[in-house]
Amino acid sequence: MSSASITRRALLSGGTVLASAVAGNLLVSKLAGAKEMVRTAIEPREIEFALAAGGVTRNVYSYADRGPAPVLRVKQGEPLGVRLRNGLAEPTTIHWHGIRLPNAMDGVPFLTQPLVQPNETFDYTFSPPDAGSYWYHPHCNSLVQMSHGLAGLLIVEEAKDPGFDADIALNLRDWRLGDDGQFIALYAPRQTARAGTYGTVRTTNWRREPDYDAPSGSLTRLRVVVTDVTRVYKLAIEGAPGLIIALDGNPLPKPMPLDNLAVGPGQRADIIVRMPDTEGAFVTVRDFSSPTPLTVARLRAVGASRKRGLGDVKPLPLNPMAEPDLATAATIPLVFSATAEQIPKSQYCGDLGYSFWAINSTPWPGSSPDAQAPLAELKLGRSYILELHNRTPHPHPIHLHGMSFKLLRSDKRDLAPVWTDTAMVYPDERVDVALVADNLGDWLLHCHVIEHQETGMSGYLRVT
Ligand code: C2O
Ligand code: CU
Repeated sequence: MSSASITRRALLSGGTVLASAVAGNLLVSKLAGAKEMVRTAIEPREIEFALAAGGVTRNVYSYADRGPAPVLRVKQGEPLGVRLRNGLAEPTTIHWHGIRLPNAMDGVPFLTQPLVQPNETFDYTFSPPDAGSYWYHPHCNSLVQMSHGLAGLLIVEEAKDPGFDADIALNLRDWRLGDDGQFIALYAPRQTARAGTYGTVRTTNWRREPDYDAPSGSLTRLRVVVTDVTRVYKLAIEGAPGLIIALDGNPLPKPMPLDNLAVGPGQRADIIVRMPDTEGAFVTVRDFSSPTPLTVARLRAVGASRKRGLGDVKPLPLNPMAEPDLATAATIPLVFSATAEQIPKSQYCGDLGYSFWAINSTPWPGSSPDAQAPLAELKLGRSYILELHNRTPHPHPIHLHGMSFKLLRSDKRDLAPVWTDTAMVYPDERVDVALVADNLGDWLLHCHVIEHQETGMSGYLRVT
């Protein structure tokens, strides 16, 4: 069985725990009195895959043996155990983007765990407290490993089924390929010092403009996950109405119509599409981020109409976030800027050897053993306001590990008060966000344009 096909098999009952995960299979074991642990094994490796018209691409990295990574699905609060076995020729780790988990499971080399060397294993176990659309990716030599393909989706299902008719996950990303379908230079330093280097071939679930079937007249849930290292997508739907029900995993208090939604690197959007009643009709998801709009995917209505209405779409149950106390919150300014300071190249995790960017004037590539002092020290249980100041002419999707934060305000636009782990901060904008420091440890905070992350726009918050 390939690791891409995930099935659930209850192997044991009663009080025994199956200790070893079988590579490629997903096992379910039962702990006495506890929820079942979903176990799986993931092995990043090098494969070949037909991504572009020009030819089969070599040196693709995947978490599966034949194509893109398996979509992992667990239920909210259900324990998940993933054994990473490193089948690459270089060290790696897995970071669970957006999941609030114990610091030791966060996947940041040196800061939270040792590097996982070739052929070594590392066991990640955690119980996702929040339902929603999440993803996982490496956190060492990230520009190379992610640009070559490493990323997978992690879907945390609501404890109670919200009642949609279909659920389609879309992994959006570009590839830097030449006409022959082979990888070209992954970045150009003069772009790295600007908005970042864009890919040349654009895919959804590793396919160009794929079609999916969805029941006619249904409410179909699309889970859009931007795993690209650079591109900010601008999404719209043609041929049917769409409602956004969640952003970055977290439910909106009230669903909003979809209209050119910006979704940046690391971000997610859950969109409900009311499929047409007529069998064979197409709905098109489009991306307007480039001068020539791109078809992200087409959905084809199949079968008799389910006759659902967008009015049936109720807000999803909110995730269990601690509400920050703004009256007592301390303020932490975080300034994102360019820098002229050059720090020595680190020999770890594919440091690009440039420092173009800084947080609070300090450049750091984010995955080296020589971490600077934390950007700030937070006290467990206290509330904080992070002021995200973008003092550059480029947008930066700012991501925090281990804790979610609530958008408070922007000095440039209206912001819905949503919870997120990745906030877009536009040129010269200041976005204030709030959180309760409710998770102990050192938590990375960085731009999710991976070239920016790796050329200085990284730091961390310490919660003690
Ligand atoms: Cu998805 Cu540190 O990132
Ligand atoms: Cu950036």
